[in-house]
Amino acid sequence: MQMGSFKQSLRFMGPVVLLLAALAYAIVPLADNLTLRWFERDLDVRSQMLADALQNPLQEYVPERANRKIGQLFDRAVQDERLYALAFCDSQGVLLHKTKSYPQLLGCMAPPWEHAMRQGRVQLPQGAVHVSESPLKVEGQYLGKLIVVQDMSFIDRRGADVRKYVLVMFVALVVLMWLLAALITHLSWRGFMKALGDMLRKDAKPRSVQALQAAPSGQGVDGDLRALLHQYTMRRRDPDETSRMWTPEKLRMLLREELAGDEILVVSNREPYIHARTAGGLKVSRPASGLVTAVEPVMRACSGTWIAHGGGSGDRDAVDRNDRVQVPPGRPSYTLRRVWLSKEEEQGFYYGFANEGLWPLCHIAHVRPVFRSSDWTQYLEVNQKFADAVIKEARTDDPVVLVQDYHFALLPRMVRDALPKATILTFWHIPWPNPESFGICPWREEILEGLLGSTILGFHTSFHCKNFLETVDRYLETRIEHEASTISYGGKLTQVEAYPISIAWPDETAAQPSVAECRSMVRKELGLPENHILAVGVDRLDYTKGIIERLQAVERLLEQYPVLIGKFTLVQIAAPSRSSLDEYQNFETRVRMLAQRINQRFSQGAFPPIRLKIEHHDAEQVNRYYRAAEVCVVTSLHDGMNLVAKEYIAARDDERGVLILSQFTGAARELHEALLVNPYHIEQSAEALYRAVTMPEAEQRERMRSMRALVKDFNVYRWAGRMLLDAARLRRRERIMTKIHSHSRQALRRVV
Ligand code: G6P
Repeated sequence: MQMGSFKQSLRFMGPVVLLLAALAYAIVPLADNLTLRWFERDLDVRSQMLADALQNPLQEYVPERANRKIGQLFDRAVQDERLYALAFCDSQGVLLHKTKSYPQLLGCMAPPWEHAMRQGRVQLPQGAVHVSESPLKVEGQYLGKLIVVQDMSFIDRRGADVRKYVLVMFVALVVLMWLLAALITHLSWRGFMKALGDMLRKDAKPRSVQALQAAPSGQGVDGDLRALLHQYTMRRRDPDETSRMWTPEKLRMLLREELAGDEILVVSNREPYIHARTAGGLKVSRPASGLVTAVEPVMRACSGTWIAHGGGSGDRDAVDRNDRVQVPPGRPSYTLRRVWLSKEEEQGFYYGFANEGLWPLCHIAHVRPVFRSSDWTQYLEVNQKFADAVIKEARTDDPVVLVQDYHFALLPRMVRDALPKATILTFWHIPWPNPESFGICPWREEILEGLLGSTILGFHTSFHCKNFLETVDRYLETRIEHEASTISYGGKLTQVEAYPISIAWPDETAAQPSVAECRSMVRKELGLPENHILAVGVDRLDYTKGIIERLQAVERLLEQYPVLIGKFTLVQIAAPSRSSLDEYQNFETRVRMLAQRINQRFSQGAFPPIRLKIEHHDAEQVNRYYRAAEVCVVTSLHDGMNLVAKEYIAARDDERGVLILSQFTGAARELHEALLVNPYHIEQSAEALYRAVTMPEAEQRERMRSMRALVKDFNVYRWAGRMLLDAARLRRRERIMTKIHSHSRQALRRVV
C-alpha cells in the first residue's frame, strides 16, 4: 500500500475513532445498567422459586414450631452458593428462624431497611445483597414471612466482564474499520491519481476530467499528489514538443488547443510601433529593441492586447478614445494600448531607475548603477499605472499576462494581488547578475518580491536562472526546489525557467534582393569598390555592446595585417538610444572620437576602415547590410541573448558570411559555430576578424548551414510556444488543485 493512501486512511480514521470512543463511553454504563436489571430479575425469579419450594414444609413446620426441622431446611437451602441467607419472621415481626449467615442488621426488614432497599438491593457493609420477602399463609391465615437473601457480588464481577468485552469489541471494530478504510482509500486513491495523471497528460483531457469528477474525494493534497505534480513538472519537456517545427500557425493552434478562449495581454515599456508627427503627416516606425523584435511576431500570431508606453510625438493622434490603436498598420492583427507618462514619470521610471539603476546593475559592463529614492518612487508608481492598465484591459479574471523586462519588476505582484487567478509570465530580457552584484540595489527585496508574483519567470539562459535562484535564496525567506526550479513564496509558486529568445525565421518564399544585389547596392551607397571587404555591426548605441572594443579590434587588425588597409571597412550601425542620459552621451562622444582617430590613422587610401552610422535604420536596410557584409561582429560585454547574431544568420540564405560573437552573450550558448571571442581581449578579436575575412567558403558554408538550421528551428515561435505551453500546464494544474481543494472541503463537511 502506498504511503499516501495509508496516511489518507489515518486522516479519515481520526474522526471515526473519536466517534467510536464517544459511543463506547455512552454504551458501557448503559450495558452495565441493562445487565444489572437482567440479573436482578433473575434473582427475583430464583427467590420466588425458592420461596415456593419452601412454602409447603414451612406450612407444616411453623405451626408445629418444629424449629430444628426449620433450621435443617434452611441450612440445606443455603448450600446453594448464590443463596446468602434465609430468615423467617412471625406475624408480629419477630425473627424466629435464621441461618447463621443472615445479616443481623436486616432484622425483619423493618425500616430503615425497607427504604434502603431499591428493587430488592440492599447495600450492606460486606457487600450488596438481594433481599425478597414471601408471606406464609395456612388456610388464609398469615403466619409470617420468609426472607430470602441472595449474594449480588457476582453481578459486579459479571459487570466488569461485560465492560471488558465491550472494550475489546470496540478496539476490534476500530481495527477492522481502519483496515477497511485503508483498503478503500488505497483503491480509490489509485484511481484518483490515475485520473489526475491522465488529466495532466493533455491527450486524455476530457475523459480524465470526468474521471476526476467521478473519483472518490476527500483525500486532500498530500505527498503522493505533490509527487505526481512534481513528476509532471519534471516531465514538462515532452519529446513531441521539442521535435515540432514552430511556425505562427503552430503557435495559433497551440493557443486554440491549450489556451482556448484565454486572453493574452502583453506589457512592455517600449511599444512595437511608434507614431511620429512629421511635415508629411503621421509616420510609423519600429524601434530598435530586441524585445520588440521578438515579441511582435508572437503578438501577430495570438491577437491579444499589447500595453506599452506611448512615447512617440504622434502617438496620441493615432489612438481612439480608449487609447487603443490596431496594429500593424495596414494589416491589423492585434491591439496596441498606449499608456501615457508625464516627463517626471519618464525621467524617474525609465531613464532613472530602469536605465541608470537596473540596466547597469544587471549588465557587467563596469558602469556603476545609480540609485535615487525619487527614481524608485516613480518606478513604483509607473509600475502601478501599468498594472492598473492591465487590470482594466482584462476582460476575464484569469488572463495570461506576458510581462516584459526590467521596467516592470514590481508589476507581476501588483497584477497577482488584483487578479489572483491570472497566469503571469514574466520574461527578463537582460542578464541576471550574481547575488553580490544584485545585493547593492537598495530595494532588492521589493524587486524580488515583485517578480515572485509571476507564475513563470523566464530568463535567456539557465545561468541567469541559477543566479536568480541564488539571489532569492540570499535575500528572501523562500522555499526553493532546485530540481524543479521553483520558488515558493507566500504560499505561491513561481517556476523559474530558461527560454532562449529568438527571431521569426524569414519567409523564404518572399521576394527580396539577392545577396549579390545587396552587396553592390551597399557598396555603391558607401562609395566602395565591389571587392571591398565589409564587416557590419548593428547595435543600439549602448555601452554594453562593446562598440569601443570592436573599433579597437579593427585598429589592431590593421596594425597586424596592413595589407587590409584600404580594403576593409567596418560599418557600424548604431541606433541612438537613451540619449538624454550622460552615460550614453559620453559613450557616443567616445565612439565618435575613437572612430575618427582610427580613420585618420588608416586613411591613406580613399576608404576609411570605420563607417559610423549613428542613426535609426529600418529592418529592410539592416537586412541589406547583413546580406552585403562578409562578417558580422557582435562584441557585447554582456548581453542577455543578442538577436543581431541570429538575424545575421537568418539573412544569409546564401550560406556565406562569418559571425564573430562575444562569449558573454546568451547567443554564444547556442551558436557554437560562430567565432567566439572575449571582447575584452582586443588581440583575440582582431585575430577573429582576420580569420573571418580569410575563411574559406566551404568552412563558411558549413558553419552557417549548421547555425541556420538551429535558428530556424529554435525560432521565436518556439520561445513563445514553450512559455505558453508551460503556462497552459500550470493553468491546468491550478484548476486541478482548486478542484481537489473543493472536493476535499466537501468530503470533510460530509465526515464532520
Ligand atoms: C533592450 C531591452 C529592451 C529595450 C531595448 C531598447 O533590448 O531589453 O527592453 O526595449 O533594449 O531599449 P529602449 O530603452 O530604447 O527601449
